[in-house]
Amino acid sequence: MPEYFEYHGYKIPVDLATMTGGGPETWDAISRGHMEEYARYCPILPHHAVLEIGCGVGRDAIQLTDHLRESGSYIGIDIIRPSIEWCTSNISTRHPNFRFEYLDVDSQIHNPTGSLKVTDVSLPVGNRTIDRIILQSVFTHMFEGDIVHYLHEFRRVLRRGGRVFASVFLLDDESRAMALSNAGEGALRFEHPYGDDCFINDPRYPEGAVGFTPDGLKRMVTAGGFELDQPIHPGFWCGRSGVQDGQDIAVLRPTGRYRLWGQR
Ligand SMILES: C[S@@+](CC[C@H](N)C(=O)[O-])C[C@H]1O[C@@H](n2cnc3c(N)ncnc32)[C@H](O)[C@@H]1O
Repeated sequence: MPEYFEYHGYKIPVDLATMTGGGPETWDAISRGHMEEYARYCPILPHHAVLEIGCGVGRDAIQLTDHLRESGSYIGIDIIRPSIEWCTSNISTRHPNFRFEYLDVDSQIHNPTGSLKVTDVSLPVGNRTIDRIILQSVFTHMFEGDIVHYLHEFRRVLRRGGRVFASVFLLDDESRAMALSNAGEGALRFEHPYGDDCFINDPRYPEGAVGFTPDGLKRMVTAGGFELDQPIHPGFWCGRSGVQDGQDIAVLRPTGRYRLWGQR
C-alpha cells in the first residue's frame, strides 16, 4: 500500500485519509459530492468566511481553495493532530487565508489520549466572524451534550445570515425500519439505544456511528439556539433510493435575536 496518493497537486497521506472514513478510491467522489451538497442546500460564496469542524486531512479545504477568493477565508478544526499538521504544512503554505487548528479533545476513535472534553472547548474563532459552518460526518460521531455545546459556540461565531450545514443520522420510523435491512460487517442498523432519543450502531465503539430521533435532534437544535432552515434532506445511508446524499443533511439558522454573553 503506497503512503500517499496524488490529488490536485497534493500528496495526501493514505493513513490520514483512511481516518476520514474513506480512502483514496472514494476521495474524489466524496469531495465533489460535498461541494454539490453545499451548492444545493447552503451555498458558500467566494467571499465567505468558512469554519469547518472535523476537517480531517483537508478534503473540503482542498476543494474550497478553488472556490474562495482572497477576500474569503477558511478555518479547519480537528482533533487528529497529524491531520492538522499536514493541512497546515501543505494547504496553508499555498493558501494563507486557510488556517487549521488542532483541539486535543478526547475521543474513543479519533483521539483516545485527548486531554479536553468537547464541553471545555472555546473554538479559536472570533465572535461574529463566520458565514458558513460545515460539519461532514462529525455530529454522526458525537452525543447530545457535546453537540449542544458546539451549537452554542456556533451561535457566538456566526455573523448575521450565517448558516450551519451538518450531516446527521436521523432515525425516524422510516429510516430505522429501512436500516434493519442493512446487512454485513459495519452495516448501519442503529439497534442500540444510548440515552434519550439516541441510538448507536456498535456498542463496542459508541462514537463509531451515532443517530438521533427527530425529537432528539429537535431538542438539541433548539437548546443550541438554532432552528431548521429547511426540511432535513434524507440520505441513502439506510438504503433509501431516489436521493442524492449519503447521510441526512440539516441546515440550521440561529433563532431570534442573539446577544453575545454580557452584551445588553
Ligand atoms: C468521519 S471523519 C470526516 C472528516 C471530514 N469531514 C471529511 O469528510 O473528510 C470525522 C472527523 O471529525 C473529527 N472530529 C470528531 N470529533 C470531533 C470534535 N469533537 N471536534 C472536532 N472534530 C472532531 C475527527 O477527528 C475526524 O477527522
